[in-house]
Amino acid sequence: MHPKEVFILAIESSCDDTAAAVLRGEKVLSNVVARQSIHEEYGGVVPELASRAHQQNIVPVIDVALKKANITKEQLSAIAFTQGPGLMGSLLVGTSFAKSLSMALRIPLIAVNHMHAHILAHFIDEEGYDKPTFPFLALTISGGHTQIVKVNDFFDMEIIGETTDDAVGEAFDKTAKILGLPYPGGPLIDQFAKEGNPKKYPFTKPKVEGLDFSFSGLKTQILYFVQKNVAANPNFIEENKADICASVQHTIIEILMEKIKLAVAETGIRQIAIGGGVSANSGIRQTLKETENKYGWKTFIPKFEYTTDNAAMIGIVGYHKFLHDQFTNAGVVSKARIEF
Ligand code: KG4
Ligand code: ZN
Repeated sequence: MHPKEVFILAIESSCDDTAAAVLRGEKVLSNVVARQSIHEEYGGVVPELASRAHQQNIVPVIDVALKKANITKEQLSAIAFTQGPGLMGSLLVGTSFAKSLSMALRIPLIAVNHMHAHILAHFIDEEGYDKPTFPFLALTISGGHTQIVKVNDFFDMEIIGETTDDAVGEAFDKTAKILGLPYPGGPLIDQFAKEGNPKKYPFTKPKVEGLDFSFSGLKTQILYFVQKNVAANPNFIEENKADICASVQHTIIEILMEKIKLAVAETGIRQIAIGGGVSANSGIRQTLKETENKYGWKTFIPKFEYTTDNAAMIGIVGYHKFLHDQFTNAGVVSKARIEF
């Protein structure tokens, strides 16, 4: 089979988005995501509700993905699915569905590590998008992950730094919660920050060895800071929202940039690719872009729909595994935690 004639159906259900995509080679034919708004009123993802919503969404989402791609199930070459890491109840829905469909269609099954997918999303074919070359550094930042990965090849990568507590997305979301903003608060902080002074409130940065991160201390610091000021002025948040958001975002960006600079110094690699929902942050994007002129780095920021949780990224890993005959069998199980 010519590589361009490989059709992969990919399924992603690791957290609160039910997603399906169809790829032809490295090109995305369809990329469908059903977001679950049910969690907004709880201020975070409720695992039991997430798996229930996946069950409701998975059949229609796959149906739409096939229709948008304009292909039939019979044309598929293989099915790729997220094996982990993620919420067990959520993963089980996608895994079970992928297994059953591959058996029914008698086509191979491919298990994908969600974290590899965030990184290899940079290899999706897109008009005008320059792909990184190996080796490069990947910064994966989202509500569930914060990692710096040295990527030597498609299937040869090592984590060289990661969070020791909260993920960076949690730092955004928990700050938003303290400020009374709805979940997920990251995009709102980004919005308010645009109008504010990033130097107004200097928060201290955590001291963490090497390339690892910590965000839980920052969250506590922000909580005490807000409580103290609200006690003195009940309108403190309303009156200073933009400055608080800008200062918090500025601190988070400084924490990330400090570690990336160190990673570049330690590895000598100057290609930086970012992924995960937090890479949508306009401050992070701008700061990274500036490094191209400032330090001569080359940065890679994929299309927004490939940075948040999506199935196209699962499909691109599936495609490369297909080319290397890396298949799994029907005995495969979901893994909430998974070896990198
Ligand atoms: O990758 P993602 O969709 O899901 C996982 O967590 O795996 O990432 C979601 C995270 C949330 O924490 C959300 O607040 C954050 O990404 N996020 C942002 C922005 N857009 C999404 N954080 C800061 N600025 C943004 N513009
Ligand atoms: Zn993710």
